[in-house]
Amino acid sequence: MGGIIIKSERDMEGMRAACRLAALTLYESAKLIEPGITTDDINTFVHDFTVARGAVPAPLNYRGYPKSVCTSVNEVICHGIPGPRVLKDGDIINVDVTSILDGWHGDVSATFYVGTPSETARRLVEVTRECLRRGIAAVNPRARLGDIGAVIASHAESHGFSVVRDFVGHGIGRSFHEAPQVLHFGKPGRGQRLQKGMTFTIEPMINEGDWRSLVLDDNWTAVTADGRLSAQFEHTIAVTATGAEILTAFPGPLLHSEVFP
Ligand code: MF3
Ligand code: CO
Ligand code: CO
Repeated sequence: MGGIIIKSERDMEGMRAACRLAALTLYESAKLIEPGITTDDINTFVHDFTVARGAVPAPLNYRGYPKSVCTSVNEVICHGIPGPRVLKDGDIINVDVTSILDGWHGDVSATFYVGTPSETARRLVEVTRECLRRGIAAVNPRARLGDIGAVIASHAESHGFSVVRDFVGHGIGRSFHEAPQVLHFGKPGRGQRLQKGMTFTIEPMINEGDWRSLVLDDNWTAVTADGRLSAQFEHTIAVTATGAEILTAFPGPLLHSEVFP
């Protein structure tokens, strides 16, 4: 079955705990977001919060990645490295948290508004949120991977946006990235059939303009080739007998994304 690792009910308890921690970490980090903070402030919070709970931030030293979280601002598609960059009013920022707890990985991300977004930024972010929702809604044991990609691309493209091709969702478990690859575009009825006990991420990256990406000289930061905005949302899900269980569900609405103070 293409090397996909099916999780037992006992494995699933491990996944639930790791994913619950990742979701809580992202939920709490949202409270920091405002003009004037740096992306390093988010990194410090995520690192300390994770370690204080007996977990490990998966990004740190992963294939040489230097920080504990990814922070991707505006034209950055993914894998933005936290640093001294100061967030300013009107920015959008994706924060991508991956926690390892008792050997299991939980991977979750969301895009936040820094202050007041432009009309375009708001439309892009809300379409991307809806892409993830629709992708998750397409999951059940009779569906195939292509069904997920198809609903995501069709929603994004119906709004004049494009789907990033070069980065995809992934199986997840005792490893950060396992089989299968979960493309955010595709044909209905094609690809691997889903099965109860599969755990994978769905993490559409949607661009305001062209889908093409470039990686900066730091070998991590992926940006839009045309310099226009990109947004992303990610959940880790499990295939159940009837649909999907969102393992990284948040404990409440996300500040600066789903709700505003
Ligand atoms: N969290 C990212 C994902 O969703 C992967 C980040 S790899 C890192 O797959 F090294 F940059 F952290
Ligand atoms: Co992921
Ligand atoms: Co992630």
